[in-house]
Amino acid sequence: MKNIDSSTHVRGESVYLDDIPVIRGTLFGAAFGSPIAHGILKSLDLTAAEAMPGVVRILTYKDVTGENQIGGIVPDEPLLAEHHVHYCGMPIAFILAETDEEAHAAIKKITVDIDPLPVITDPREAQARGDLIVGARTFRLGDVATAWEQCAHVFEGTADTNGQEHLYIETQGAYAVPQENNGIKLYSSTQGPTAVQRAVSRSLGLPMHQIDVDVTRLGGGFGGKEDQANMWAALCALAAHVLKRPVKYALNRIEDMAMTGKRHPYSSDFKIGLDADLTIIAYEATFYQNAGAAADLSPAVLERTLFHCTNSYFIPNVTAIAYCCRTNLPPNTAFRGFGGPQGMFVIEAAIAKAAYSLGIDAAVIQAKNLNQTGDEFPYGQKAESEARACWDKAVTTYKVDMRRSQIADFNAANILYKKGVALMPVCFGISFTNTRMNQARALVHVYTDGSVGVSTGAVEMGQGVNTKMVQVAAQVFSILPERIKIQSTSTYRIANTSPSAASATADLNGRAVQIACTDILNRLKAVAAQELHTDEAAITLKDEWVYVGDQCTDYTWQRLVLAAYGRRISLSEHAHYATPVIHFDPVTGKGHPFAYHVYGTAVVEVTIDCVRGTYETDAVNVVHDFGASMNPLIDRGQIEGGIVQGIGWMTLEEVIYDKAGRLRSNALSTYKVPDIYSVPKEITIEFLQTQTDNLAIFRSKAVGEPPLMYGIGAYFALRNAIRAFNPSATIPFDAPMTPEKVLLALYDTISAPAALPLTNDKIATDLAVNS
Ligand code: MTE
Ligand code: HPA
Ligand code: MOS
Repeated sequence: MKNIDSSTHVRGESVYLDDIPVIRGTLFGAAFGSPIAHGILKSLDLTAAEAMPGVVRILTYKDVTGENQIGGIVPDEPLLAEHHVHYCGMPIAFILAETDEEAHAAIKKITVDIDPLPVITDPREAQARGDLIVGARTFRLGDVATAWEQCAHVFEGTADTNGQEHLYIETQGAYAVPQENNGIKLYSSTQGPTAVQRAVSRSLGLPMHQIDVDVTRLGGGFGGKEDQANMWAALCALAAHVLKRPVKYALNRIEDMAMTGKRHPYSSDFKIGLDADLTIIAYEATFYQNAGAAADLSPAVLERTLFHCTNSYFIPNVTAIAYCCRTNLPPNTAFRGFGGPQGMFVIEAAIAKAAYSLGIDAAVIQAKNLNQTGDEFPYGQKAESEARACWDKAVTTYKVDMRRSQIADFNAANILYKKGVALMPVCFGISFTNTRMNQARALVHVYTDGSVGVSTGAVEMGQGVNTKMVQVAAQVFSILPERIKIQSTSTYRIANTSPSAASATADLNGRAVQIACTDILNRLKAVAAQELHTDEAAITLKDEWVYVGDQCTDYTWQRLVLAAYGRRISLSEHAHYATPVIHFDPVTGKGHPFAYHVYGTAVVEVTIDCVRGTYETDAVNVVHDFGASMNPLIDRGQIEGGIVQGIGWMTLEEVIYDKAGRLRSNALSTYKVPDIYSVPKEITIEFLQTQTDNLAIFRSKAVGEPPLMYGIGAYFALRNAIRAFNPSATIPFDAPMTPEKVLLALYDTISAPAALPLTNDKIATDLAVNS
């Protein structure tokens, strides 16, 4: 089934926050953010700004009617700064004006006097000063201390990954409309309608039932709107509540990039020990997470780094320690993979270091150590593994051995261009790691014309979850998908939702839809049995018709629905689903946190230009464990998008803050994301269709986040290509591998081998070969 949004998307008819018709009397908001990263607020002068045309009011923390606090996991984030500013862009005042332009013009007239304090941007420095947001976390399996003695080889190093801008096409924003008796209706570009509802309720001092958060769809979230939509929604709601006028604020791109958090940069130390036959016996990792100035979701992200610190490998002795370090950057937040990619990068770096030092290909160590069914993860869960199945299928399907020799030939024949290849296995756990978040609800109404309205807690953000919800209802009822409408996600219809995140949205909400539809179906079958004077067990519904046994009756779906209504049978159902089996104890660090794991292997091939340091991704060839995909088209789209986003993080995208904590890569002129020229020339995806039972909806495994981590393969392929040119290059594990870094590594030693014997003739033939 094709994505139900595709035709309105291509016609430009899909409605996003900024497309909602504006109600007369609407005011436009704009946040004034701190110009410096750390300091004490001495004074704030609003007079000039208040005198600007169109300005109606400027709110500060003094105007907050409830608690000036929006922190979720830790209450450490004011809605508006009081006396202390912790990062550049931290909202201090909220301007309300008759137009968006007037609100933004007034921002420039606000002056502040801030006594500066030392600015910390480095997580290791924060950790050394004891500036942690939560206590250190440790995951442990076996005993590394004694394991080192059994190792034939031990390698140590550091590995760093940088942040990543979410770059959802639709920026953050909210539109708050006051209702009678202090109610607020809020349109918000959020992955977490309930998170917004809670934040608004708390900061306005109103009960949650007064706040209706309504979401039609997002132009992308990627984790950036799991928690960080709250700020803008709460500001708009506060203004609407105080001024009794509708208030809208859709951030412009520069504001969004400067004021919101990103993927967490990490700096990490590793130590890996192998025995003589290359089995990894011990692994130790210490993660320094750059959390930014407030907790946001950082402690949960930190935990997922630990969950995924051994990626697809079984390692019997593991100690992994993680620090959630407070710095003076905007609070970093969820981003596709939720800390998992940062953990996986480090184990891949450790393996790459071991392989290079031993003079072998990393794939030898990777293949040797893939986990198998029954192997224990450091958090106690036993693997039901498809790791080897994916790896082996990738190696054979994509003829990896043959390609290696072709690449070797190419590299021997070319001086100006070198190719590199790397394999990237992925093992990603599906479920919120916070067990209690793994629940969902659905509300299904069948109307008397036979049409069906479905409400869930799922937020459509381009990942196709609404299409999957249609498929679930259509399959249970056995009716045409056109009969089914997925309603907007509303906290009035569905309460206490978990955010659409953790790749689990279709699983959780889909199961709830399945339960609700099945309940209605069972009531309809009872009606049919009465109408047709037969046994309920004999009734089935197939393609819009009622059957008794194999016999098609003259009852259509629609006729049956009317009959049920006539018999005063409920045609509505509200259902709840909670993932069974899962549990996890954060104190011991043990349990069974994931409903299941998703596996896969990518083969990534790149070519570098050894004169310029630029590169291209020739191919990403994947074998991916879909379970039994319920929508191969959508799932392929998720994989392609995830790969490109992962490659961007690992190669081009460079978030740069200066020492004063100011974002320098603050626009799309200075922050490079993959474009049509830099996406892989080829992406192929082989389905590993597995028949084993799992807790996914219709056994169709979650697909949202896991493919991002295939992009890590591009980083290691680039290293291999560099080494083909300069075998002794020292290449720190420091992602992203920008063209500048490639160039530095290519010529890192004076005797960079191939650079010297070049003649004009040789260059000419090389260029000809590669043109
Ligand atoms: N795909 C699109 N097009 N847009 C998005 O914002 N978010 C990703 C992924 N794929 C995202 C996306 C993230 S971070 C997650 S957790 C999942 O989708 C969430 O949706 P799911 O749970 O339905 O997979
Ligand atoms: N994944 C994504 N988002 C989350 C999680 C998680 O495990 N926990 C809380 N928010
Ligand atoms: Mo995704 S990072 O769980 O929103």
